Amino acid sequence: MGTPDLQILAAVHAQAFDHGWSAAEIASLLETPGTFVVAEPEGFILARALAGEAEIITLAVAPAARRRGMARRLVEAAAVRAMALQAEALFLEVADDNVAALGLYRGLGFEVVGRRRGYYARGNGEPAVDALVMRLALNS
Ligand SMILES: CC(C)(COP(=O)(O)OP(=O)(O)OC[C@H]1O[C@@H](n2cnc3c(N)ncnc32)[C@H](O)[C@@H]1OP(=O)(O)O)[C@@H](O)C(=O)NCCC(=O)NCCS
Repeated sequence: MGTPDLQILAAVHAQAFDHGWSAAEIASLLETPGTFVVAEPEGFILARALAGEAEIITLAVAPAARRRGMARRLVEAAAVRAMALQAEALFLEVADDNVAALGLYRGLGFEVVGRRRGYYARGNGEPAVDALVMRLALNS
């Protein structure tokens, strides 16, 4: 994909999250310095590299395209891009109950470096879920 079509990114995001982001919201994030997107058909990663550190803002793969290594490729591509922007570590926050994402990040070498208690509100009266903060060193 060349210049990403924000409407397509929003459609993928809506398939991956309960509260999808609109094209306008994604456009607004992309205006923040250091923010970039890596996209494939049916998947994308939005990340930011600033002042020596990078973070994954969101990562989404459409359900029909999962378990084919796309997310792994997207995270690796974002890490390469972040290194080119002088970042020395890549951070992210992930829900403690997100089995797929935790498997992905652990497999790529991310380590848990923190926990934010009750970070993700859940509907239907369910208790809020902790966020794990994970980090990958980019100089290795
Ligand atoms: C998490 C997500 C991005 C993974 O995308 P994907 O393209 O299916 O992931 P990959 O195919 O690259 O998987 C890489 C590895 O992650 C792990 N993994 C991925 N999905 C998994 C699942 N459902 N259960 C357990 N492990 C899983 C596996 O270790 C997998 O390697 P393997 O297929 O060789 O076993 C995707 O499920 C998604 O969009 N989920 C909803 C949004 C989300 O949670 N985003 C991350 C927020 S932090």
